[in-house]
Amino acid sequence: MFKLSCDVPLQPLNTFGISAKALQLVRIQSTDDLQAVLADASLEQQSKFVLGGGSNLVLTGDVKPLVLKVEIMGKRLVKETRKHFIVEAGAGEPWHDFVAWTLDQNMPGLENLALIPGTVGASPVQNIGAYGVELQDRFESLDYIDLTTGESQTLDAGACQFGYRDSVFKCALKDKVLITHVRFALPKAWQVDISYADLDKHAKRVHQPKPTPRMVFDWVCQIRSKKLPDPKVIGNTGSFFKNPVVTPEQCKDIIGRDPNVAFYKLLDGNFKLAAAWLIDACGWKGRGVGNAGVHPEHALVLINKGQETGTPATGGEVMTLAGAIQTSVYERFGIRLEVEPVVV
Ligand code: EPU
Repeated sequence: MFKLSCDVPLQPLNTFGISAKALQLVRIQSTDDLQAVLADASLEQQSKFVLGGGSNLVLTGDVKPLVLKVEIMGKRLVKETRKHFIVEAGAGEPWHDFVAWTLDQNMPGLENLALIPGTVGASPVQNIGAYGVELQDRFESLDYIDLTTGESQTLDAGACQFGYRDSVFKCALKDKVLITHVRFALPKAWQVDISYADLDKHAKRVHQPKPTPRMVFDWVCQIRSKKLPDPKVIGNTGSFFKNPVVTPEQCKDIIGRDPNVAFYKLLDGNFKLAAAWLIDACGWKGRGVGNAGVHPEHALVLINKGQETGTPATGGEVMTLAGAIQTSVYERFGIRLEVEPVVV
């Protein structure tokens, strides 16, 4: 049977460390817990908000919908095919622990995605990606429960409509479902991928052109720790904006405005610009609004400067800062930056 808690502080449950509360919250530790909530006469009609690790979330006030805090655990090898290990994790498993576990089981393939904060259940929502690998490259299928009908469904990669930091769970199925389990297909013939510039540089520096999965895991952890603030120490949600994708003509226009702009050519002929560079070029590093700031080391990361002093940034300050950054990047480069985390 589930337990309904009222006025639950959410500050420890979001990595930005924003102070807010959930008017009502239920911890979902199994699909039975969720079915019981959905069958409860007083709760079934209420709107619901699914909370994972709170690492991609900006709270702008108390959360009025019923918060379903996902704590479904478990990790297992489901089956082996000729080419893959199919592994499954409960949606509440911390992502990084799951990645470490797959390596301990000698089933590599997720090492480039080490140290990403958040839970396994949230990972398909924004199709997490880092250092040349996206979740969709290793994804097999997932199970979800429809929050209106209580029916469970299994979706394959095609049905999830993965895009860059995007999926069906950010569009048609937004706020409508709770992901319970996610399965990954990890290749038995593992191939190293250190094509991302930072990893390639690191491999050359340590003279290891053919690293093991464990080495890649360690390098990714080292690079991330150096570049990105640890949310346990400084509140943040990782990258705050998506890297904008522009046409070749737009890219040319921006190079005309500043020849130093950082960009990458995509397979479809378009170009991805480094949002961090655009923000940096507008002079935002280290600046802020109230207790919300731009990380002095990485311009794409907004941080909570007020945790130590006991006056954490509010969601309003964070979004005011985000808006000011969007305006200055638009005025200088004609590019509209899109906010990446979920704003509630
Ligand atoms: N740069 C600057 N100023 C800065 C930081 C970076 O000019 O302050 C420039 C540099 O030229 C650098 C380029 O921006 O080469 C790109 O920076 P970085 O390699 O750090 O990657 P990113 O594009 O900023 C993306 C993901 C990260 C992921 C890294 C590594 C997005 C929105 N972000 O960041 O994902 O860890 O690549 O693969 O795609 C996240 O989504 O929360 C996240 C952290």
